[in-house]
Amino acid sequence: GRQLPRAEPALVPAAVDTSAQKRLTILYGSQTGNAKRVAESLAEQVAASGLDYRLVRADGYATRELKDEHLLYLVISTQGDGEAPDDSLAFVEFLNSRRAPKLPQLQYAVLGLGDSSYPLFCGIAQSIDARLAELGARRLQDTGTADLDIETIAGPWREQAVLQAREVLKKPAAKGASITPLHPKTGKVTRERPFAAELLLNQAITGRGGAKDVRHLELSLEGSHVRYQPGDALGVWPVQSPLLVDRIVSLLGLDADEAVEHQQATRPLREWLSRHRELTVLTRPFLTAHAERSGSGELQALLLPDAQESLKRLLANQQLADILESHPAPWTASELVAALRPISPRMYSIASSQAAVGEEVHLTLANVAYETATGPRWGAASNFLSNLREGERVDVFVEENTRFRLPSDPARDIIMIGPGTGIAPFRAFVQERSAAGATGRNWLFFGNPHFATDFLYQTEWQQALKSGRLHRLDVAFSRDQAEKVYVQHKLKERAAEVYAWIQGGAHVYVCGDANRMARDVQQALLDIAQQEGGMEAAQAKAWLDALAAQGRYARDVY
Ligand code: 2AM
Repeated sequence: GRQLPRAEPALVPAAVDTSAQKRLTILYGSQTGNAKRVAESLAEQVAASGLDYRLVRADGYATRELKDEHLLYLVISTQGDGEAPDDSLAFVEFLNSRRAPKLPQLQYAVLGLGDSSYPLFCGIAQSIDARLAELGARRLQDTGTADLDIETIAGPWREQAVLQAREVLKKPAAKGASITPLHPKTGKVTRERPFAAELLLNQAITGRGGAKDVRHLELSLEGSHVRYQPGDALGVWPVQSPLLVDRIVSLLGLDADEAVEHQQATRPLREWLSRHRELTVLTRPFLTAHAERSGSGELQALLLPDAQESLKRLLANQQLADILESHPAPWTASELVAALRPISPRMYSIASSQAAVGEEVHLTLANVAYETATGPRWGAASNFLSNLREGERVDVFVEENTRFRLPSDPARDIIMIGPGTGIAPFRAFVQERSAAGATGRNWLFFGNPHFATDFLYQTEWQQALKSGRLHRLDVAFSRDQAEKVYVQHKLKERAAEVYAWIQGGAHVYVCGDANRMARDVQQALLDIAQQEGGMEAAQAKAWLDALAAQGRYARDVY
């Protein structure tokens, strides 16, 4: 069989200072690559200032070195309910343990990434900050808490971090040194320079009358030289619904063709709104500004500290246009553009392997559209993509996910747990393994509401079973019987075999819902280890941690 790629080394070669002098360590913990990207830009800016640094992913960091650090910058994203990303779990556990050393020699700053619509926004960054301070380290600047529009907070935080690093490492500012990132001007497709991929196929793969509308999309990468690995994600830049853009423009009595200048870019208001601003989410900062302009006592009351719950409900249930309609207030075009959150690309786990589909990329897309009391709601990208017609184009780029990789040894077995659209990367895995002639066995656990309407890629899985490309398939159709049946129930039904596969070297992958499913599946794995391996709870936890540390328990959850 073909040798599959290994995960990238965690230590990025950089100017590593081996002398006893002070040096800067930039540490990052990243789930989907955002924190990694921010840490890399920080490293570029630091390098452009002529400072020495090393850039390390949290799981590649030797924690015994912490006591010798003088300057530490930490960029960390938030998972689920204020938790650490998978690659940082061991680091965080060490830091919070009694083994953590006193750190009086250390100066540091933390930048958290998160989503302010979740409770415990940037919780993990805050708790690391508190713990470092508790260990005696000195905070150089307040912990940054970057929302989905990452750069609004991350940009200034990095600038400050570079200035302070110069100070601490005693390097005067180099004259004329540029601290803008040094991107080589290659034709490479990136987040900022995406590829306009043509849609080849847009096919409903859930049945009529089912609970969800899920689609299989095929996009062409022809001519882009874009390469991806199974496990990677595709970044998609959505375009807002023209109806929504028109509605907002007319509610405000603005002219869609008005040229608006903002941060060195000038474009018509229509283009700002359709390609550069979030319209389907309502943010607290916007609401604050709007409450002031509208003079609405009702909106202002929602922003008081004791109205947290009502505010959360409003942010979840109303969109920008609803508020503009129910609480009118004047906005000029340029004020509006400045106040709205810049749009972020949406990430989709890739559902194909290039070994099977060549210059194409496939996605499994849930169209999250639903009715509420105040009107229809939808997700910007899923609405845009599910309405995209064959021949139309969409701006895309590949986001590496080196933590979600097939075993480099093709003889290893794999267990894939992917309910709902969590199935996507496993279609890629099975395609890749069969193209590579991998000899290890493939076991898939899939779940969805109903067999009749929601068995995603049913015929493909059945053919794969028949031809020996898939070895085991267990399905949990949650609503086909009175009692809910979920993937974790199926795992536990097969406890003995699941445990035997894992002890025989199998890699376990989980993809899909982070809040409930991934947590419950994790508990099922712990229960299986206790039941089948005769372990105590703490041993089971150590067993699973060890699997994760070896890259044999990997999650792509959202
Ligand atoms: P439900 O909607 O019927 O509750 C994909 O969304 C599948 O995951 C659905 O069948 C859904 O079931 C199920 N699901 C919901 N909560 C889950 C959980 N905690 N663990 C595993 N699967 C879950």
